[in-house]
Amino acid sequence: MPPALQIEQLSKTYESGFKALNSVNLTIERGELFALLGPNGAGKTTLISVICGLVRASAGTVRVHGHHWTEEYRTARRLIGLVPQELTTESFETVSATVNFSRGLYGLPKDPARIEQILKDLSLWEKRNSRIMTLSGGMKRRVLIAKALAHEPKVLFLDEPTAGVDVELRRDMWDVVRRLKASGVTIILTTHYIEEAEEMADRVGVITKGEIILVEEKNALMRKLGRKQLVLQLAEPLARLPESLTAYDLTLAEAGDELTYTYDSQGERTGITTLMSDLREAGVHFRDLQTKQDSLEKIFVNLVRQSQ
Ligand SMILES: Nc1ncnc2c1ncn2[C@@H]1O[C@H](COP(=O)(O)OP(=O)(O)OP(=O)(O)O)[C@@H](O)[C@H]1O
Ligand SMILES: [Mg+2]
Repeated sequence: MPPALQIEQLSKTYESGFKALNSVNLTIERGELFALLGPNGAGKTTLISVICGLVRASAGTVRVHGHHWTEEYRTARRLIGLVPQELTTESFETVSATVNFSRGLYGLPKDPARIEQILKDLSLWEKRNSRIMTLSGGMKRRVLIAKALAHEPKVLFLDEPTAGVDVELRRDMWDVVRRLKASGVTIILTTHYIEEAEEMADRVGVITKGEIILVEEKNALMRKLGRKQLVLQLAEPLARLPESLTAYDLTLAEAGDELTYTYDSQGERTGITTLMSDLREAGVHFRDLQTKQDSLEKIFVNLVRQSQ
């Protein structure tokens, strides 16, 4: 079975001469939830727009479920749903007319039961007869998602679906995305809320300056690149760090009652065993300890900084 998406050597140079994508190669498996992370201007929206056929590529090919994106345009396009980053929903039309129309665009027969389900899933059912221009920003974003789902896409692109929405709506959207994933839809998500990727993604890709600099299973990424911290709550506060411990990467909290040891979780040795015996020798006792791991956010910031 061909993968959901096969992107080969995709490049985009805008008319201005600006190279927004530089030979992107990426394969996304069916049913995956792939989070594409990158700073502002990295090329995320360009990549999605090119794949969806809204922006013309300068070079490269894309296959959707094995279908060539230009030679089999209609089949490939029908498989794709897109929730765009920008809200362009100043429409006089009602919610339900807009969503029904979207389905019709793909030549699909009317399916009122399905549209009802989509609107209910997105808590839009009560608003189905409202004109879109009268809705709040968050509601409009829900409408964009409903529109993207109307033709039952198998590969769904969500370009910052939760930008500028409140916490409750964000949770709702996560639920919708989870349900879609459970139903077998492949999801490609861009987001600036890295906790979103941390919570939901199977794999993470990082793009900067039009190049994908990393693609990795989320869990492996966090294991590999995340540094760990061991936090010791001391039995007695220390005025300063004993001389014998200065070789360790230790920080003493201002109050002197907490010692943090940072170590590389991927390294052969964590150094914890020797630290423990050196602590004992120095007469430093602790009453409790815990470990912490770098968040995906921290890993991401470090990665992007290194590539600058
Ligand atoms: N139509 C255009 N003409 C010229 N340059 C463009 C055009 N559209 C985008 N760009 C440039 O391409 C680069 C990538 O933009 P893009 O919108 O893809 O970034 P992004 O990763 O989606 O950023 P954000 O996180 O802000 O949404 C930016 O430098 C942008 O200014
Ligand atoms: Mg964007």
